[in-house]
Amino acid sequence: PLKIAVIGGGSSYTPELVEGVIKRYEEMPVKDLYLVDIEAGRHKLEITSALAKRMVEKSGLPIRIHATLDRREAIDGADFITTQLRVGLLDARAKDERIPLQYNCIGQETTGAGGFAKALRTVPVLLGIAKDIEELAPNAWMFNFTNPAGINTEAVLNYSKVKSIGLCNLPIGTQMQIAKLVGCDPYDVNLEWVGLNHLNWSSKILVNGVDVLPEVLSKAPSAKGLTMKNIPDFGWDAEFLESQGMLPCSYLRYFYMTDDMLAEELEAARTVGTRAQVVKQVEAELFELYKDPNLSMKPKQLEQRGGAYYSEAAMNLIHSIYTNRNDQQVVNVRNNGLLDFLPNDASIEANCVINAEGATPLQIKTPIPGHIRGLIQVVKAYETATVEAAVSGDYGLALQALTLHPLVTSAKVAKNILNDILTQHKEYLPQF
Ligand code: G6P
Ligand code: MN
Repeated sequence: PLKIAVIGGGSSYTPELVEGVIKRYEEMPVKDLYLVDIEAGRHKLEITSALAKRMVEKSGLPIRIHATLDRREAIDGADFITTQLRVGLLDARAKDERIPLQYNCIGQETTGAGGFAKALRTVPVLLGIAKDIEELAPNAWMFNFTNPAGINTEAVLNYSKVKSIGLCNLPIGTQMQIAKLVGCDPYDVNLEWVGLNHLNWSSKILVNGVDVLPEVLSKAPSAKGLTMKNIPDFGWDAEFLESQGMLPCSYLRYFYMTDDMLAEELEAARTVGTRAQVVKQVEAELFELYKDPNLSMKPKQLEQRGGAYYSEAAMNLIHSIYTNRNDQQVVNVRNNGLLDFLPNDASIEANCVINAEGATPLQIKTPIPGHIRGLIQVVKAYETATVEAAVSGDYGLALQALTLHPLVTSAKVAKNILNDILTQHKEYLPQF
């Protein structure tokens, strides 16, 4: 009997996941769905699991929902384990976002110094989960959505024996945005991706087999809605975009429009608050809805979260592995020579064929220009150094990793940020 464990089950994204399980029941009969959380998440877990039970009841399907604080019980004998946790909850995210801003650096929870802080907290926890999986469910697949997904995936791939794949909703989200822009069904859109998680480009945009990349590049500078919900919709400079040659993902604005993005972040931090504070508000509203005993579906309001449809991506992945479907999805895997300018054991985000064996990357046919390759190389070097710092707890390695990041201005600034991270997140950084 099929068993799925969701680590971080109290997350506001859980109803989408449950919807995905129900929708696919015929081809993928999940018997037990374990929602796991920690003591601090108990209250949220009670609400999400009660909603999950109502959703299942309404479907009439024999799926059992279990809510537990015992991670090992949930992992024991599971077939698939997903991680959607946030170490230190949204308060830690708020610190990740604010610390760099104090030194006039981008404060974002995945890109730049914010993502670095999040990685230091998260890598050891994920490796702990991987250890439990090695022991209690050695044949299981582990899917990681926890950010920074690229760094976390690389850590699990290189520091554990668990079969694992990293996941992000940006590819599926972009597919939907493009469909809206050109006026077609999302399923008619097929994107070829180049790069890393949150640092990637669409090198081909096929609509019913025809490459509309030039059309999209000419529309994108002023198009609205071609961005993730959590990233300011600034468009792009037309000449820059055309000469770039590929469509950069929303997160690349932090690299290419650093001054505007920083100004926006500083302004938001002074007024409405950083994204963590906005999300706190959205979450509070979502949980009010979830509590309604008459609600038995995923509410529309969940689309306000940047991660909308990520559970759809997750369930698609599980479905394809379980049914040996051999379809194409965009996920985070070991490079293995696909990008020949990166080490084999680097994690990359790539179009893959998904079947019972897992994810096998497809060859990228488009030549990758030097200006794109160079940024991928430096950010990957930073990511790998960050994994090593997070695993070892070595101060010097951490300082070098952060200094290497293109969005951190100097060694002095890196040192200040690192010291603040180590102080403010002390309780979550036992390795240092
Ligand atoms: C994007 C990313 C996700 C991230 C989310 C944040 O969609 O792909 O990895 O978790 O945004 O959204 P939030 O609503 O938490 O700011
Ligand atoms: Mn993502």
